[in-house]
Amino acid sequence: MNSLDFQNLRSAQGKFRTPRFKSTWFQPRTVILLGPPGAGKGTQAQRIAGQCGLKHLSTGDMLRDNIYRDTELAKKAKPLINRGELVPDEIVLGMVKERIAQPDCKNGFILDGFPRTLRQAQGLEEICVPHKSKAATVLNFAVKAELLVRRLINRRICNKCGHIYNLIEHPPEHSGICDLDGSELLQRADDAEEVVRERICTYERHTRPLIDYYAAKGVLHEVEGTSDPDAVTASILKVLNK
Ligand code: AP5
Ligand code: MG
Ligand code: ZN
Repeated sequence: MNSLDFQNLRSAQGKFRTPRFKSTWFQPRTVILLGPPGAGKGTQAQRIAGQCGLKHLSTGDMLRDNIYRDTELAKKAKPLINRGELVPDEIVLGMVKERIAQPDCKNGFILDGFPRTLRQAQGLEEICVPHKSKAATVLNFAVKAELLVRRLINRRICNKCGHIYNLIEHPPEHSGICDLDGSELLQRADDAEEVVRERICTYERHTRPLIDYYAAKGVLHEVEGTSDPDAVTASILKVLNK
């Protein structure tokens, strides 16, 4: 049943039942993965999205897709990404608003790398009003800066399926080749060490304040991001299944 059908059902039921009929089971769920570059947001989103029936939305992936397709948006975004700076809020908000309206997001979504500024957090709340979403669950990944740098300069990503590897912690079975589909593994342009350090500074300046913002709303959950990936997944599922 799509959301439009559900609207029809609700109005039909409203004719025969109490007008105060209210249910929450259909409300789309919003999960926000908050954390610095290399904290493991993408790795965990790939693991939990299917299990939770939620769509994985990474604003970084959307922006890289624009760069790949050489769109107008990419002309503005590419130099900023390559310097480790943020893309302007209004561009990212427009992109997310359009994506969330797609039918594959109707059950809810995991936001990976968004919001990253207070303006984006407020914008997300405005976007979610017409979708009648539940209050967001925010998972904050804590990992020390030096570990982030080590993780990112050793990260490789499958060109085809997007699976994330690490040359030290989780190397592929055959060098440069994806275990899942045999495709080539690539390194992101912004994973050069000097850009990684700038991305971490950008995070400290613009995104870290969101921890207090969501803590004040009572929706923040801490995730120990330095643990083994299986342990991180288990702790996330514990929060989401509560
Ligand atoms: P984006 O693509 O979102 O990058 P990021 O936030 O910097 O995060 P990363 O993708 O680098 O790290 P991750 O936390 O996903 O870690 P991963 O799971 O891969 O954004 C890129 C750029 O786009 C931004 O700099 C900005 O310019 C722009 N942008 C994007 N969104 C924007 C927004 N909302 N507003 C404005 N601009 C925006 O893991 C990293 C490595 O660690 C991997 O090798 C992995 O195998 C390994 N690893 C993961 N977990 C573990 C573990 N538990 N133990 C050991 N190793 C682990
Ligand atoms: Mg990522
Ligand atoms: Zn692959």
